[in-house]
Amino acid sequence: ATPEPLRIKISGAPASGKGTQCELITRKYGLVHIAAGDLLRAEVNSGSKNGKRAKDYMEKGLLVPNEIVALMVKERLSQPDAQEKGWLLDGYPRSSSQANALKEVGFEPDLFILLEVPEEILVERVVGRRLDPVTGKIYHLKYFPPDNEEVAARLTQRFDDTEERVRLRLQTHHQNLEDVLSLYQDVTVKVNGNAPKAVVFDQIDRLLTGLLEQRKAAIGSL
Ligand code: AP5
Repeated sequence: ATPEPLRIKISGAPASGKGTQCELITRKYGLVHIAAGDLLRAEVNSGSKNGKRAKDYMEKGLLVPNEIVALMVKERLSQPDAQEKGWLLDGYPRSSSQANALKEVGFEPDLFILLEVPEEILVERVVGRRLDPVTGKIYHLKYFPPDNEEVAARLTQRFDDTEERVRLRLQTHHQNLEDVLSLYQDVTVKVNGNAPKAVVFDQIDRLLTGLLEQRKAAIGSL
């Protein structure tokens, strides 16, 4: 028998490295990456009514209302690929009401990873972040610049990646973090996100491998 797929939740302040670590985790573990922010940005780009409403909140660094975001995330989690391969939920839930809504529909994480990074470092990470619209890869002008001219020429910046807006997003994050943490105390592991990305991944990799080994051992002892 094969062990149950992993169900992981990753959280942390804006620019703590959630998206960067999710790229590395999905590459090794094949989990389906579901990022609330990415789902919302796709909705904004579609120009829909919900997208226009969401953008107003995102520009202010506020949480988008639950009626827009909750259904999107629930629908994506329910897709067969996420059920078969396991999921990696990024940036959701961000409030106790979102956490409770998720519990009600039966989506509970096995592990809650919290990336911790000092605030002054976060602002520099946001302002230097660039995205490749073709591959979806995340770069940083100073820490991870692209290695070819073609990619460098097409990089874009997120509309909420200014110093002023990241400070607003940080405020929202601090207001909500304790509520969410208190609901996942039993499965939370804090990871130092203020280290080179390979070193951060090494900590996460060990946690996930440990979890899979525990599961395999449990099956073996049945
Ligand atoms: P969201 O898209 O989730 O943004 P965020 O939480 O602000 O997080 P980021 O995507 O900015 O950062 P990240 O942690 O992924 O960092 P990254 O890996 O890119 O949400 C945006 C908005 O959507 C919210 O403000 C809200 O309005 C709305 N929203 C989202 N979820 C919602 C919800 N559940 N309910 C309601 N509304 C919601 O890294 C950042 C930079 O640092 C990159 O340039 C990267 O290259 C660099 N970097 C990464 N790791 C390292 C490292 N170890 N060392 C040096 N540099 C690094």
